Amino acid sequence: MRMPGRITDIDVRKPLTAAEVARIEAAMDEHAVVVLPGQDITDAQQLAFTRNFGPLEEGANSGARDSDLRLPVVFADVSNLDRQGRIAARDNKKRMAALGNRLWHSDASFRAVPARYSILSGRIVTTDGGNTEFADMRAAYDALDAATKAEIEDLVCEHSLIYSRGQLGFTEFLPNERVAMAPVRQRLVRTHPVTGRKSLFLAAHIGTIVGWPRPEAMAFIRDLMEHATQPDFVYVHRWSQHDLVMWDNRTTMHRVRRFDDLNVVRDMRRTTTKSEGPTAEQAAA
Ligand SMILES: [Fe+2]
Repeated sequence: MRMPGRITDIDVRKPLTAAEVARIEAAMDEHAVVVLPGQDITDAQQLAFTRNFGPLEEGANSGARDSDLRLPVVFADVSNLDRQGRIAARDNKKRMAALGNRLWHSDASFRAVPARYSILSGRIVTTDGGNTEFADMRAAYDALDAATKAEIEDLVCEHSLIYSRGQLGFTEFLPNERVAMAPVRQRLVRTHPVTGRKSLFLAAHIGTIVGWPRPEAMAFIRDLMEHATQPDFVYVHRWSQHDLVMWDNRTTMHRVRRFDDLNVVRDMRRTTTKSEGPTAEQAAA
């Protein structure tokens, strides 16, 4: 079924009934991306809503100290604002790191237990740029030929923020940052625990395929990325204020598009839940 699903008759500000949670999960399983328009929510309401869908993934800001953050640590601050709420300067560290969101990725694929749902609230949205695009990795998998499916079935990739940031030219990392961003292993083909559908687990965070020469791995990953992000598999979300957009990181990739972020405010707040477990055994330390 095509992305996205759309739910207009659930009020996210109130506690959800079990039936409402089940309805949202069913829509997520079917569409992988679900839009709930007109949800004018507070941070506390967003957190309460998110907790219906599993334990929180709190790692998004783990590199920063609490005092550096504009939002509580359980939020990924996807705004272009600094800690004081002003538009971040061109060389602001958070802004530089956020440029990685312009590359196709799956949230927290660089953690051994990657993300399940991401829930993004559009508090102040942009209409001239700043769209979020989603690629359906189930459709991308289904469209592969049989030989490729057989070849990739048991492949394992290494994911790290070092690799995705490296694509944008960030090469300087402190020794403790390198430890914190040590690569993790993820299967290239995932099977959804409810629907049983297979999908490609790709992200800009991939830096190699285990057992492959790195250049060959990266050339192949680039081919798969190109395949998976062709327009047939992509939904472009143009934001309206108070849209709440949810996506399943197990079955989609996403990226944000460029906008005039040195002059226009965009305040987006993401909460995230964890997947059911690791997708692959980790390398011995
Ligand atoms: Fe993301």
